[in-house]
Amino acid sequence: MEISNEIKYIGVFDREIDLFEGQYTVKDGVSYNSYIIKDRKIAVMDTVDKSFVGEWLARLDTELDGRQPDYLIVHHMEPDHSSGIKSFLDKYPEATVIASQAAFRMMRGFFGTEFEGRRRIVTEGDTLSLGEHTLTFITAPMVHWPEVIMTFDARDGVLFSADGFGKFGGFEIGREWVDEARRYYIGIVGKYGKQVQAVLKKAAALDIKKICPLHGPVLSENLEFYIDLYDKWSSYTPEQSGVTVAYASIYGNTKAAALYLSERLKERGVAVSLYDLSRCEKYAPIADAFRFDRLVLAAATYNMGVFPPMREFVTELSERGYKNRRVALIENGSWAPAAAKVMRQILGEEVEYLDRVVKITSAPTEANYRELDGLVNDLLA
Ligand SMILES: Cc1cc2nc3c(=O)[nH]c(=O)nc-3n(C[C@H](O)[C@H](O)[C@H](O)COP(=O)(O)O)c2cc1C
Ligand SMILES: [Fe+2]
Ligand SMILES: [Fe+2]
Repeated sequence: MEISNEIKYIGVFDREIDLFEGQYTVKDGVSYNSYIIKDRKIAVMDTVDKSFVGEWLARLDTELDGRQPDYLIVHHMEPDHSSGIKSFLDKYPEATVIASQAAFRMMRGFFGTEFEGRRRIVTEGDTLSLGEHTLTFITAPMVHWPEVIMTFDARDGVLFSADGFGKFGGFEIGREWVDEARRYYIGIVGKYGKQVQAVLKKAAALDIKKICPLHGPVLSENLEFYIDLYDKWSSYTPEQSGVTVAYASIYGNTKAAALYLSERLKERGVAVSLYDLSRCEKYAPIADAFRFDRLVLAAATYNMGVFPPMREFVTELSERGYKNRRVALIENGSWAPAAAKVMRQILGEEVEYLDRVVKITSAPTEANYRELDGLVNDLLA
């Protein structure tokens, strides 16, 4: 994969991974991207996950074609990108490693050394000339760890965006990029919208022609499309009109109510994503809750609280600063229903709750179904 005359892709693809970061299902695998800029000086951008360091060093060696790298630029210290730092520096004793101060502190944690004597600490606005290419460093704290930097190459208009604009799975672009990039962003960086907004502001001042992230495809056309999505996600603005219906049901009665509601919504032409929280992939409903402007939570009461799959779901939403959506609550309980109250306590008050709360006592009654019809109207109002 060629990015420009002097910039090449030297990343690897992980098809074997079972869970990304120990919890995200990635059935189509994930790439660990790395790049090389071959100018009068040679810079290598990031390394890869530990299982692939050998393969990556071999790709690098081929691309170097007998030359020696001068710099290793470390944008992010998460092990899926940083595992090869020590092997690289051992192999190329003349190379200097470039990273933020915080990244070097993390290197001590991971490798027992900050590579004193062969390191250069960079911060906002610092530059590095490779010859024709002058690189400018941009700090991006909490996108997605505190030490993160991005690099802009003004000569080719390339932004090396670290985990920003990353995607699970393969190298699909355009509409096919969106679902897995959303699940990646909301899951991993979702909490740090403010910090992403700050980076987007800095990026707006640059003439970006290509975005080279650490996962997924290089983005080289229609950049406004991707940047606009990042702007929406990070400002907690709904992406589309529609309803996520998420239910957590033990015996199936709450489920029956959720299914009834989602059928009525679909009949009215509304886009609906329906999730059984006990069985679905954990981050799919979270990503859809951010995608749509309305959310329905339906849950059984459990030990005076809410059935755990729902408790986890609303906790994850709350931790990601979920807001600017309309939320409807449906609760069920056989003796003292408390699910609605608890869901609301956890999710917080930055969303708009519909006044109507549907309360089911064990199994939905005819009156409950009429209330659900009413809820459909309220959601569409
Ligand atoms: C372990 C456990 C704890 C429960 N705790 C409560 C409770 O505190 N209050 C209550 O009203 N119902 C409680 N229930 C009952 C369920 O909330 C109730 O049967 C509900 O109708 C189940 O809905 P479902 O058919 O969607 O699973 C509990 C059920 C189980 C299995
Ligand atoms: Fe990361
Ligand atoms: Fe990453």
